[in-house]
Amino acid sequence: MHETLLIYDFGSQYTQLIARRIREMNVYCQILPWNQLGETVDAKGIILSGSPYSVRDAQAPKPDLTTLRTKIPILGICYGAQWMAQQFGGNVTASKTREYGRAYFNPLSDDGLLQGVSNPSQVWMSHGDSISELPENATLIGSTEEVVNAAYRFVDEATYGLQFHPEVFHSTEGGIILRNFVRTICGCTGDWTPGAFIDEKVNELRAKIGSERVIMGLSGGVDSSVAAMLLHRAVGDQLHCIFVDNGLLRKDEFRQVLDSYKGMGLNVKGVDASARFYAALAGIRDPEQKRKAIGRAFIEVFDEASSKVEHAEWLGQGTIYPDVIESVSATGGPSQTIKSHHNVGGLPDYMKLKIVEPLRSLFKDEVRRIGKAMGMDPELLGRHPFPGPGLGIRILGEVTAERVKLLQEADAIFIQALKSRGLYDEVWQAGVILLPVQTVGVMGDERTYEHAVALRAVTSTDGMTADWCHLPYDFLAEVSNKIINQVKGINRVTYDISSKPPATIEWE
Ligand code: XMP
Repeated sequence: MHETLLIYDFGSQYTQLIARRIREMNVYCQILPWNQLGETVDAKGIILSGSPYSVRDAQAPKPDLTTLRTKIPILGICYGAQWMAQQFGGNVTASKTREYGRAYFNPLSDDGLLQGVSNPSQVWMSHGDSISELPENATLIGSTEEVVNAAYRFVDEATYGLQFHPEVFHSTEGGIILRNFVRTICGCTGDWTPGAFIDEKVNELRAKIGSERVIMGLSGGVDSSVAAMLLHRAVGDQLHCIFVDNGLLRKDEFRQVLDSYKGMGLNVKGVDASARFYAALAGIRDPEQKRKAIGRAFIEVFDEASSKVEHAEWLGQGTIYPDVIESVSATGGPSQTIKSHHNVGGLPDYMKLKIVEPLRSLFKDEVRRIGKAMGMDPELLGRHPFPGPGLGIRILGEVTAERVKLLQEADAIFIQALKSRGLYDEVWQAGVILLPVQTVGVMGDERTYEHAVALRAVTSTDGMTADWCHLPYDFLAEVSNKIINQVKGINRVTYDISSKPPATIEWE
């Protein structure tokens, strides 16, 4: 068992960020919905997150903290600090001036939590309420110009409240505060390292799976690849991987990825099912219908390929922590389906396989650290995210083999150019979109009437929000020239300068 911190989620958009900051200190933590807060908690400390609610709302989450308070170190952040203040006799009111964004914090003490914090120190505020009166038995430990009760603690207890968000990047010394809480106040030493994770996970998988067989669909992406490496290390050739060519991969990707999987020692079968996917997509133009057709075809192909593996009992999956939290968040509720993402998850019930998800507790950057520690091919590890339906949702209008070919050529030029210029790693995701328009051009003395494409390159941390990359003009000019000169059938290149929101990363 590792030292564990628990973060109780009241629905703040920053809750995952708190977890990441703590994990960066090599301390394991888990996010739980606020309504799982009980009278006892088996952990080194707990953090109460922020929330979109106001404690003054009738329907706001209000768990009872009475018994826990003296038993375990507690840090309330924003809403967490406000609810704690209100429950124990303080007062929370709507702020006269809403303090959002940057503020300057003046610590009043140099005690455990605020040790080493400058005066003033830039912090990030994001709430319309303030604590107008501190709870009983609490003392003030810091203020900002607008917010007097910006930080407090209960006398002789390891219970603290912060009105600002130490977890966000713009709270420049937030990391010091969190470290003080985690290391000094909760006494965590930092025993959560990639090496420890790998050893434990491998043992756990071995014990769980025993001599049974596991099948797993690989996508060429980081998550499924790292999950497969862990499973392979645990059960060797009892793991049977299937990598499907859906005809919607990047140019030469099927071969290259298959080769690097084999190089990693994985027992993997490549299945070329392009023709089947193209047949399933014939005549379909609507993006969601395309996703469904691709999803259905994938299940059929995977089902056939996996039925050849006799006596398989387990299905391996590359599910990571953000996917898990999304489905358990009690306050968030189901968010609107903007695009139905197709993952290997949706396999039919009749397959009756037990599910094994080695990365269920990890964030994306941790998955990369684990992959690196296991010696995974850096090329594979650093790959941009790529959607399951692949080029199918980057071909606007009908998907045909010819159009895929055209797009693959243009996409390969763009990606190769990013790599040659050293820009690939600065970009979070990039690709080319084949537009459903033809435009007039002139090549030599000839009039042309051919396809237009859009280049898309974005910066992001998680794909939830994204900005278009400010790629150098001369670079864009070079890519445009190459595409138009080398790809027959394309005579115009545009660059997408939309951020998400309000646009999305993919065009479909
Ligand atoms: P959007 O277009 O929603 O994309 O801004 C956000 C991230 O999700 C990827 N994406 C998908 N991934 N199946 C996937 O597996 C899908 O249907 C799908 N649609 C979008 C997109 O590439 C980006 O990384």
